[in-house]
Amino acid sequence: MRTTGVLMVALASGPALAQEAGQVNVICSVQAEWCNMIQTVFARTTGIKVNMSLKGSGEALAQLIAERANPKTDVWFGGTGDPHLQAAEQGLSLEYKSASLPQLHAWAQQQASQSGYKTVGIYSGPLGFGYNTELLAKKKLPVPKTWADLLNPAYKGEVQVANPASSGTAYTMVATLVQLMGEDKAFDYMKALHKNIGQYTRSGTGPIKAVARGETSLSISFVHDGPGEAMQGFPVATITPAEGTGAEIGSMSIIKGARNLEAAKKFYEWALTPQAQQFGAASKQFQLPSNKATPVDPRVPDFKKIKFIDYDYAKYGASAERRRLIAKWEKDVNSLPR
Ligand code: F6P
Repeated sequence: MRTTGVLMVALASGPALAQEAGQVNVICSVQAEWCNMIQTVFARTTGIKVNMSLKGSGEALAQLIAERANPKTDVWFGGTGDPHLQAAEQGLSLEYKSASLPQLHAWAQQQASQSGYKTVGIYSGPLGFGYNTELLAKKKLPVPKTWADLLNPAYKGEVQVANPASSGTAYTMVATLVQLMGEDKAFDYMKALHKNIGQYTRSGTGPIKAVARGETSLSISFVHDGPGEAMQGFPVATITPAEGTGAEIGSMSIIKGARNLEAAKKFYEWALTPQAQQFGAASKQFQLPSNKATPVDPRVPDFKKIKFIDYDYAKYGASAERRRLIAKWEKDVNSLPR
């Protein structure tokens, strides 16, 4: 109710301003409902038109690389932090230090400082498993509690995860397993897991949607994407693996050479405010917001109850490492028969 109220107030805060205030071109890598909400509210409150295009984290980075000589994008909002760090390293994003930085959690500030202030953390969320409670019960399958459990041959064809080339969620899985097990064991693990994979999807949220709708039993997903599906009445729950897991630092970057730089900076500053960050939960997306003053919805995963690895964001966000691991996954894992 509270979050709906926030949207109502924002939408009611006056008639739409004239569009002479300009426009901003945004690639949005969170789910559509959140993208649409910020597009509407930012335009209504500032008069700046938002041209929004929705893309997964890996696809967004590929587009920015392709546009490098003639950028059409001004701001990249959301998506996992690793490709934002890669964009920073490749000189695709602009150094910009927001006055709001001290209001952000340490992990969000660290994302900014380690990129030379070319990106910033806007939310965080843990990687885990999604499962369809009814399907597992019907098929008499146990709920997996560990990474090791996912290799159970009884899950053959039952697990969905995205493709790490297009999805930041799936790249977070690859990087998490490498850090948790060591590279050789992690790739042996992913080769074994491959036998249980029914489908590698393009988008990171595809698998938990498939689980929710009963198209498959299990997914490897960010656990903050579970409650929104459950709120629609689907029999879906999430769990984080007992051995430990990684978390994303969802990020935002201004693009170097942005044609609408002033509007881009306004959008960026607005997106760091508690008012704007509430639109995540208002659109049923339950990442932990980066501004410490943003109210935290009770459905946001409780980080204190989760065992995390000490994820090395700088190392796994480096271009060469990300490219190398994705190429190795394509060659050693994805090419195998199932
Ligand atoms: O929008 C949901 C979400 O899980 C975000 O938390 C995350 O940054 C994004 O999707 C990643 O999407 P993809 O895996 O498609 O790059």
